[in-house]
Amino acid sequence: MKTGFVGWRGMVGSVLMDRMQQERDFDLLEPTFFTTSQVGQAGPDLGAGSTPLLDAYSLDDLAHLDVILTAQGGDYTKNVYSALRDRGWKGFWIDAASALRMREDAVLVLDPVNGARIEEAIAGGARTFCGANCTVSLMLMALGGLFEAGQVEWLSSMTYQAASGAGAAQLRELVAQTVALADAVGEDWNDPEVSVLELERRVTAALRDEAFPHESFGAPLAASLLAYIDSAMPGGQTREEWKGMAETNKILGQDPPVPVDGICVRVGALRCHSQAFTIKLRDPLPLDEVEQRIASANDWVRVVENTRDATFSELTPTAVSGTLSVPIGRIRKLAMGDHYLGAFSVGDQLLWGAAEPLRRVLRTILAS
Ligand code: HSE
Repeated sequence: MKTGFVGWRGMVGSVLMDRMQQERDFDLLEPTFFTTSQVGQAGPDLGAGSTPLLDAYSLDDLAHLDVILTAQGGDYTKNVYSALRDRGWKGFWIDAASALRMREDAVLVLDPVNGARIEEAIAGGARTFCGANCTVSLMLMALGGLFEAGQVEWLSSMTYQAASGAGAAQLRELVAQTVALADAVGEDWNDPEVSVLELERRVTAALRDEAFPHESFGAPLAASLLAYIDSAMPGGQTREEWKGMAETNKILGQDPPVPVDGICVRVGALRCHSQAFTIKLRDPLPLDEVEQRIASANDWVRVVENTRDATFSELTPTAVSGTLSVPIGRIRKLAMGDHYLGAFSVGDQLLWGAAEPLRRVLRTILAS
């Protein structure tokens, strides 16, 4: 199939390209690479030579394609998608952005969780596929087994979201903030004559200094946190929090919807989102059954023993970054009673949270 790639050089796009090369996805399709800014420059060479980049805004060039996969962002989608469909284009549109997610004709893709629904949708004529919000996808990769068993009466997810989820500029800014903090103390961190409270004062003063790099986030993140992600929604929720319930239930095709809510918080992790779950179970399942259902749901979720050692070595952004593994640990019954379960999971926001479901739905489409 003639497949066009837009936004393949950005952060999500680069992770996607790497994964597609690792899995030899390009052997199965005929790629064309597009650009919004460098028309005519040489495209990537995937082994068969490179061809010039085409204009991502040229509806004529896009209309020849069987599949378009974009990680260019929501503004691009809003600019091009409807215009292309209005011209009668009937190809497959695969999108990392949120712009089309809530359209009735758009399918949210996370095949380890809703693979059968995706295949049914393709057979039924669906042509628009969107990756879901990264926090939602990572939550469902971790807890799919409990949803599948119909055991989740409601779920609260308190998140610890990485800088990468906010964008490439923000991830770079987190690194810049870390460097600025190092500069604020210099070698004094190791001088026993400088008290630890003096070090803390210097770091805090640096964080509060207007010159501290914070343009992209709007506030310091390093050595701090930001308890507001995305824009305001009615009722005091943020849009990130709103997506939790809306997208979870859309992915699962769940009606009536399972209530999902929580507070979404940005922390100084690089590319792994973590989440602390409070789950009300429908039945007071024993813990070993809970763990067995969670662990058997897909090939990537991994139950981590509820010990300090296992938590430190397996359940951190440091351990998980750059991997497809979705560990979930700290699984225990909460003090509220036998129906209440606590758990904590970590997942790479650029892999299962963004690129991986897209390359996998592309494979499903190619095989259909
Ligand atoms: N909205 C997410 C975040 C990005 O801000 O972390 C992935 O959907």
